Amino acid sequence: MKKIMVIDGGPRKNMNTATMCEKFAEGARAAGADVKIVRLYDIDYKGCRSCMSCKLKNQPTASCQFPDGITDILAECASADGVALGSPIYFGEVSAQLRAFFERLTFPWLSYTKGYFDAPKKFPITIIYTMNGMPEDGRNVRKNMQVFEGVLESAGCDVNHIFIYNTMWVTNYAPYDFMPDTAEDKLLWRNEHWEQDMQTAYDAGLRMASHL
Ligand SMILES: Cc1cc2nc3c(=O)[nH]c(=O)nc-3n(C[C@H](O)[C@H](O)[C@H](O)COP(=O)(O)O)c2cc1C
Repeated sequence: MKKIMVIDGGPRKNMNTATMCEKFAEGARAAGADVKIVRLYDIDYKGCRSCMSCKLKNQPTASCQFPDGITDILAECASADGVALGSPIYFGEVSAQLRAFFERLTFPWLSYTKGYFDAPKKFPITIIYTMNGMPEDGRNVRKNMQVFEGVLESAGCDVNHIFIYNTMWVTNYAPYDFMPDTAEDKLLWRNEHWEQDMQTAYDAGLRMASHL
């Protein structure tokens, strides 16, 4: 059975990013994959510490060996058949947790003598970004994500992304400092887009698992 890792880099368990990760997993399971969802905010770990263990001569490592809460997950990802990464957009970038995960996942794949990233397994990767902004705001985010996605592509992975825009940030806007019409506008958008957004995530999971 093919293994797909779904890495949820968002802090909230029942909101936008988590829902899209669940839908992706549902689609992948429907196509027969064994799917594991990992919630990064539940794990105690940090980003790359430059320990340089993965750069020791003639000792290639497929995954970061620094011992903490994420070590085993990184090994599982390195040998997976497919990976999905989900993140809310924070200040135009992925969450700090996903960024830290990304450093740990990809730095061992970089060889300075070869001069390039080389993933031990060239799996497909789908990245799901959820954001408060509208599609036109997504242009800048897509630009910011070029380095992130470019590293994965240059490592040999087949990278796709899904953007979920204008998310419902909270279920009740009343107590918070938003413009008076925000709640109504958000609801209108959600009624028009949410089902399709979930379907897009589901289809992406189904597609990935079907092509493994
Ligand atoms: C600290 C912080 C920074 C954010 N920065 C942005 C941003 O730069 N652009 C944007 O469109 N949304 C931004 N957002 C909104 C979230 O990306 C958006 O609401 C997301 O869908 C939340 O995901 P969640 O529901 O899974 O938590 C930010 C949210 C937080 C908490």
